[in-house]
Amino acid sequence: MNILILGSGGREHAFTLKLSESNKVNQLFVAPGNAGTSQIATNININPTDFKAVKEIVLNNQIDMVVVGPEAPLVEGVHDYFLADKDLKNISVIGPKKDGALLEGSKDFSKIFMEKHNIPTARYQSFTKENLSEGFLFLETLSSPYVLKADGLAAGKGVLILDSLEEAKKELEEMLTNQKFGEASSTVVIEEFLDGIELSVFVLTDGKSYKILPSAKDYKRIGEGDKGLNTGGMGAISPVPFASEDFLNKVEERIVIPTINGLQKEGIDYRGFIFIGLMNVDGNPQVIEYNVRMGDPETEAVLPRIDSDLLDLFEGVANQTLDKKSFSINPKTAATIMLVSGGYPEAYENGKEMTGIEKVTESIVFHAGTTLKENKIITNGGRVMAITSFGDTIDEALKKSYASIENIHFENMNFRKDIGFDLI
Ligand code: AMP
Ligand code: GLY
Repeated sequence: MNILILGSGGREHAFTLKLSESNKVNQLFVAPGNAGTSQIATNININPTDFKAVKEIVLNNQIDMVVVGPEAPLVEGVHDYFLADKDLKNISVIGPKKDGALLEGSKDFSKIFMEKHNIPTARYQSFTKENLSEGFLFLETLSSPYVLKADGLAAGKGVLILDSLEEAKKELEEMLTNQKFGEASSTVVIEEFLDGIELSVFVLTDGKSYKILPSAKDYKRIGEGDKGLNTGGMGAISPVPFASEDFLNKVEERIVIPTINGLQKEGIDYRGFIFIGLMNVDGNPQVIEYNVRMGDPETEAVLPRIDSDLLDLFEGVANQTLDKKSFSINPKTAATIMLVSGGYPEAYENGKEMTGIEKVTESIVFHAGTTLKENKIITNGGRVMAITSFGDTIDEALKKSYASIENIHFENMNFRKDIGFDLI
């Protein structure tokens, strides 16, 4: 089979590497990809939300399956575009259609969905500028801290957690009347704060049956001790020690099964990943959010732990035969550390030459924001590279990743030195 992967991050390099190990794969293409994917696949430089350009790649290269990495093409309807096109309708797309992608594309939709299907989540209400004053009243019924969420996609920045009621009212007004996050905040979800430990559970579904993939924890803040600004993710650990069998059983019974059944009841034919962001509140899982794709950098810790052929699972998703597929998981712990550009998540410079990558032998190197210039690897993004290692313990896996990082250099390189600090 010929496969096209859409996206350019560490997640997409991880998909590319995993699929390159399948003996059913003939040619692999990544659009737009990065310096890492270019070593094992053919990069084609297009924007994944330019569906006409995607179509051209598919037809020119006899692509049989498209794997969608990021959420934007899904929310904008890439899968629907394929189904509506006579030349593309028989090509498999791994990723939901627009209706399913609303689980991530609209926080309001996802809250209504959870409420309707009895899936545990924080108490909430949604507001627009027409009922701003009711929003103020609802805030007064909650206690600090206050959680405000822009309904639509806001590049991971649309969630505010505020300590004072005053501030929360001011920000609500900013979001609704001054469009703080543009169109994305024309509706705002206000919800109860959940106090607990976070964890991500990944599900692959063909719309009828499902497989629960290894769980992971990511580290979103830029600073050590989980301080400072939010990022796309600075590291990940899989599995998560507090996600015991008992806890994961609760996740399956209370969240995964009702989610899959709920999608069916809504008439949503969902084929792809569901990434469930959870809070463990006193041993009970509550959903913080759904994403309709894999996480980044969680994918770089989760996929290396899957020992089976990923394409075989994807075929199960495409043909709705996932129930007949099996897969095995490496019991070792994977620890992933993100290398980022100095300044990220605020302003940073691109174009820094990277050296020493070839000296890494004990870890897997996943490229994210990298590109090739005159045969040199240079930085090309805030999150530059993810380093993953295995160990019998979290500590051992982390030590390997940190030792590998000592080989890699670029100007103003930054990374968190405390990934996993709360788990050891
Ligand atoms: P989201 O974009 O929905 O993942 O939210 C970003 C982050 O905000 C999450 O990863 C949580 O750390 C935090 N968060 C979101 N909702 C809540 C909540 N109801 N209670 C506590 N923390 C939350
Ligand atoms: N690492 C969080 C995300 O991919 O949304």
